[in-house]
Amino acid sequence: MKILVLGSGGREHAIVWKMKKDNGRDRVFALPGNGGISEDAECLTDGFSDPEEVARIASHLNIDLTVVGPEVPLSEGITDLFNRKGLKIFGPCRKGSALESSKLFAKEFMKKYGIPTADFIAVNSIEEAVSVLEKREFPCVIKYDGLAAGKGVQVSEDMKQAKEFLCKIYDYNIFGSENRTVVIEDCLKGTEMSYLVFTDTEGFVPMVPAKDYKRVFDGDIGPNTGGMGCYSPPPVFTPEIEKHIKERVVVPTLKGLQRENIDYRGVLYFGFMITEQGPFVLEYNVRFGDPETQVILPRMESNLTEIMEAVIERSLNKVKIRWSDKKSVCVILASGGYPGEYEKGKEIKGLNEAVKNEDVTLFHAGTIKKEDGRFMTSGGRVLGITTVDGSLTKAREKVYRAADIIEFEGKHYRKDIGDFQ
Ligand SMILES: Nc1ncnc2c1ncn2[C@@H]1O[C@H](COP(=O)(O)OP(=O)(O)O)[C@@H](O)[C@H]1O
Ligand SMILES: [Mg+2]
Repeated sequence: MKILVLGSGGREHAIVWKMKKDNGRDRVFALPGNGGISEDAECLTDGFSDPEEVARIASHLNIDLTVVGPEVPLSEGITDLFNRKGLKIFGPCRKGSALESSKLFAKEFMKKYGIPTADFIAVNSIEEAVSVLEKREFPCVIKYDGLAAGKGVQVSEDMKQAKEFLCKIYDYNIFGSENRTVVIEDCLKGTEMSYLVFTDTEGFVPMVPAKDYKRVFDGDIGPNTGGMGCYSPPPVFTPEIEKHIKERVVVPTLKGLQRENIDYRGVLYFGFMITEQGPFVLEYNVRFGDPETQVILPRMESNLTEIMEAVIERSLNKVKIRWSDKKSVCVILASGGYPGEYEKGKEIKGLNEAVKNEDVTLFHAGTIKKEDGRFMTSGGRVLGITTVDGSLTKAREKVYRAADIIEFEGKHYRKDIGDFQ
């Protein structure tokens, strides 16, 4: 079988790694991939192309299955295009992708279908936003409506912070789009958790839950990042919470999709805040999470490609996924300065030693491989170090020993992944 994986992060490396592990005979291509992925798959080009170009590449190579890692191609309708051309693709259609590409669409959808989420109001100008904020209590949450690569949300502590963020959106147009919509919502208190399912709109099969660490520094302080680490399963995920999530969130979401005539086939990711009043949905993502995928797939014992094919063929009701009971931990090594400005092109040393001495797997994100075989940094999040172990403590020890061995100038990482809820 020939598989094409779109994307270039740790998430895509984990997907490629899992496919090779499940079936070494498959030929896996990545577009564009990264330094680490190039060791497990054939990387095609160093630029991400528009959906038409990807479809041409997929037909030219006789690809049997294309798997979309990131949200942008999905929101551009790559799935609709592939379906029209009779090419097999894993990921939801453009309409379904709006659950992620428009915060307002997602909030209105949740409201319409009775799915617990923070109260909100939508505005279209800075004046409107300020007048809404004057009547609300701080902290409150400001969300830019469109895709913003993780930079579109601010938990504002006071009016000054809120105005600064609104000014960036409205006056400086940092997201570079015509879209003027912003959602202002209540700030929820609790523990965050990610819950992902495979769905074909009719039914769903859950994955094991994960908790990611978004803030850059230990103790959950500093600015938000794409994710500095993750572990699975988090203790906040009790059987009661699981039941609550399935009955009050997942089932109503699928019913809503059916009512709206949205043919959703892919991964649906629920970002939760588990509060004293129960789980509330913070957001939907329409694809695998990163770094969540780096702790979820190592615990999956079933064949990933078979599950994806069942999703596409709408035969998910026949699928049961087997999971390891063990714990998994992933720590992200980031470039100096990330999530602010950082330098690229630093040599990464100790990659072989880290995997020789420790039972860990490295998922590359921002790396490139030079012709002489050396790996260099090429992004903010550089590498994810993952392991699976019966004991969370042992898993953490292994991952942190490896994190010490790998070196590049400016390297930084959180030391408290898996430490607290
Ligand atoms: N209503 C809320 N209450 C408290 N924190 C929130 C709320 N909404 C979002 N957040 C925080 O902001 C982060 C980013 O928000 P999210 O909706 O997940 O947007 P995105 O992932 O697209 O940036 C969340 O992970 C959470 O930490
Ligand atoms: Mg999020």
